[in-house]
Amino acid sequence: MPETDLVTLDVADDTGVATLTVDRPDRLNALNVDVLEGLREGVAEAEAADARTLVLAGAGDDAFVAGADISYMKDLSTPEAQAYAELGHDVARDLETFPAPVVAAVDGYAFGGGSELALACDLRVASESAVIGQTEIDLGIVPGWGGTQRLPRLVSDEVARRMVFLGERLPAEEAESVGLVGEVVADEAFDEHVAELAARLAAQPQFALGAAKEALNLAHEEPLHAGLATERRLWSGLFGTHDQREGMAAFLEDREPEFE
Ligand code: COA
Repeated sequence: MPETDLVTLDVADDTGVATLTVDRPDRLNALNVDVLEGLREGVAEAEAADARTLVLAGAGDDAFVAGADISYMKDLSTPEAQAYAELGHDVARDLETFPAPVVAAVDGYAFGGGSELALACDLRVASESAVIGQTEIDLGIVPGWGGTQRLPRLVSDEVARRMVFLGERLPAEEAESVGLVGEVVADEAFDEHVAELAARLAAQPQFALGAAKEALNLAHEEPLHAGLATERRLWSGLFGTHDQREGMAAFLEDREPEFE
């Protein structure tokens, strides 16, 4: 468990799903330094526990994460802001490179750094009442934890610019229509739906999922030819693993596979 009580980690032994929760509801789960450090510890612990899927969530009914902590940021100097930016980037990168799928369970507000953490996850599920925005412009700053880079890779460049320039706050349905979230779920069904999705991901063949994630991440990071070469290497590397042999055998024998 992370040292701070502002972040909790729960690993379900039966499914291998780990849930990392920002637990600061009185501040709408705003991310101060303790929370960010707790998230880093939590992600590392989930990895050490061999979690097969990680869910990132916010406590309480109102917010996923309402952003970086404005009270903390208000009087930062440039070097202090740099250190804070680096910490936020580190958390986002930890999520992005986590060796199994990471699902952002966006229930309520996801603004600024909250939206940026969701962007660093593999998948985003929103509740009907979620609202997502890169709202930093309203504070006289810009996204500083990866939003300027990850947002236009996910939605169109036009939508990203509108969101960042205008601080637009997109209700869940609109976020889905621009591709910012994968699906919108009724508030009352949200927790169960996220748990089902996470369990489905956790039941997938893990070496293959890890390879898929690594290759898909590179699609955004490398020139096409380098990404394609990596994809070939990762793809061929899966041959001979238990899950590859079993998955193909099961198909040919017309039965359900039993993955490791
Ligand atoms: N940093 C620090 N504190 C925050 C916060 C943040 N990002 N977001 C909310 N809080 C605090 C509020 O100051 C308030 O504290 P208080 O009870 O001591 O007054 C508490 O959380 C509850 O928020 P409140 O604004 O009263 O709730 P609301 O329902 O009226 O509004 C929001 C919710 C999300 C619209 C509003 O809190 C907001 O705009 N927050 C800032 C979002 C933002 O700009 N994030 C980007 C930061 S980079």
